[in-house]
Amino acid sequence: VFDEGAQLEEGTMKGALLLLSSVSVLLQGVGSCPEKCFCHPSSNSVDCSGRGLAETPSDLPPWTLTLFLQDNRIHWLPALAFRSIPLLTTLNLSNNSLSNVASNAFYGLWHLQVLNLSQNSLLSLESNLAHALPRLRELDVSSNSLSCLPTSLDEPWENLTVLNVQQNHLPHLKRALLESMPRLKLVLLKDNPWKCNCHLLGLKLWLERFTFEGGVTDGVVCGVPEPWNGKDLLSIPHELYQPCPLPPSLNEQPGSPSEEALKSPENNSGSRNPSECEVKPKPRPVNLRRAVATVVITGVVCGIVCLMMLAAAIYGCAYAAITARYQGRPLVSTGESEKMAGGKELMDRSPA
Ligand SMILES: *[C@@H]1O[C@H](CO)[C@@H](O)[C@H](O)[C@H]1NC(C)=O
Ligand SMILES: *[C@@H]1O[C@H](CO)[C@@H](O)[C@H](O)[C@H]1NC(C)=O
Ligand SMILES: *[C@@H]1O[C@H](CO)[C@@H](O)[C@H](O)[C@H]1NC(C)=O
Ligand SMILES: *[C@@H]1O[C@H](CO)[C@@H](O)[C@H](O)[C@H]1NC(C)=O
Ligand SMILES: *[C@@H]1O[C@H](CO)[C@@H](O)[C@H](O)[C@H]1NC(C)=O
Repeated sequence: VFDEGAQLEEGTMKGALLLLSSVSVLLQGVGSCPEKCFCHPSSNSVDCSGRGLAETPSDLPPWTLTLFLQDNRIHWLPALAFRSIPLLTTLNLSNNSLSNVASNAFYGLWHLQVLNLSQNSLLSLESNLAHALPRLRELDVSSNSLSCLPTSLDEPWENLTVLNVQQNHLPHLKRALLESMPRLKLVLLKDNPWKCNCHLLGLKLWLERFTFEGGVTDGVVCGVPEPWNGKDLLSIPHELYQPCPLPPSLNEQPGSPSEEALKSPENNSGSRNPSECEVKPKPRPVNLRRAVATVVITGVVCGIVCLMMLAAAIYGCAYAAITARYQGRPLVSTGESEKMAGGKELMDRSPA
C-alpha cells in the first residue's frame, strides 16, 4: 500500500512538471526575448546589434516592428527568414557579411518600410524583392559588391522613395528599373565604376528629367571610357552622346558618315554589350571551348592508350597461342630452341 501511494505521488509530480514546462513554453512564445538581444516592448523594437551573431535569432517576439541586427557577422538568410515577425517595419542588417540571401528571404514582410543592407557582400539583387516588400520606402544597399541590378521590375515599386547603391561595382543602370520606381525622391549613385558609353544614355536622360522634377541625386561620375573619366554624366553634352548604333540588320536609315563617327565615343568592340545581369553567360563560350578541347585531348589520349592495349592484347594472345601450340606437342619432339629455353620446364614436369 505504501509503495502504491509513492508511485501515485510520483505520477502527479510528473504531471505537474509537464504542465509547468508546457506553460513556460507557451509563455516563451509570447513574452520571451532572444538570449543575445534587448527587447523593448514599449517601442516594439528588438536590438540585437553588435552581438557577434552568425545567424538571425530564431525566437523573436511576434510584436517586433523594428529589428536592429547591424554590426554582426550574419552571412546568410534562408527562405522566409523573418516569417515569425510579419509586422516588421524597419530592418537594419547593415555591416554584416551577407552574401548568400535566399530569393524569398524577405518574403512575408508586407509592412516593411526601411531595409538597410549596407556594408555587406551582396553580389546581386533579386528582381522579386519589390514583390516581397510592396510597402518599402527606403532601400540601402550601399557598400556591397553589386555588379548588376535587375533590368526592370515586374510591377512598379509604388512607395520606394530612397534608393542608395553607392560604393558598389555597377557599370550600368537601366532606365527601365528606375522608371519602375515612380515615387523616387533620393537616388544615391556615387562611387561606382560607371561606364559612360552609349548604354548609359538612358540613365542620363532619366536623371535629367528626375532632377528637373525636383528629385535629388549625388550624380554619376564616369569611370570609363577615357574621354569621360572623372566627368559627371550630366555634364557631357548631348551632341557627343548618341544612342547606340542599331544592329546592321535593323539599321534602315543610314546616318551620314560624320554622324556615325560621333555616335560612339568608344570603339565598337563590345558596344552592343548590354552589360546587365544577363551578360553573365558571356564567359560561357570560352569555358565551352576549353571543355571541348579537354574532351578532344582526353579522347586522343584514350584512343592511343586503347590502341596500345589492343596491340598488347593481340601480342599476348599470339604469344599464348604459340606457347600453347608448342606445349600441345609431345615432349619428345621438342626442338633445340625449346631445350635451351625450357630447362626449368622439363625439371618441373619430370616428377609428373
Ligand atoms: C561593423 O561591425 C563590427 C562588429 O561586427 C564592428 O567592430 C565595426 O566597428 C562595425 N563597423 C562600422 C563601420 O560600424
Ligand atoms: C542601421 O545601423 C546603422 C549602423 O549602426 C546606423 O547608422 C543606421 O542609422 C541604422 N539605420 C536604421 C534605419 O536604423
Ligand atoms: C544604413 O546604415 C548605414 C550605416 O551602416 C547608415 O549610414 C545609413 O544611413 C543607413 N541607411 C538607412 C536608410 O537607414
Ligand atoms: C503606399 O503607401 C500608402 C500610404 O502609406 C499606402 O496606403 C499604400 O497601400 C502603399 N502602397 C502599397 C503598394 O503598399
Ligand atoms: C579605337 O581604335 C583606334 C584604332 O582602331 C585607336 O587608335 C583608339 O585609341 C581606340 N579608342 C579607344 C577609346 O579605345
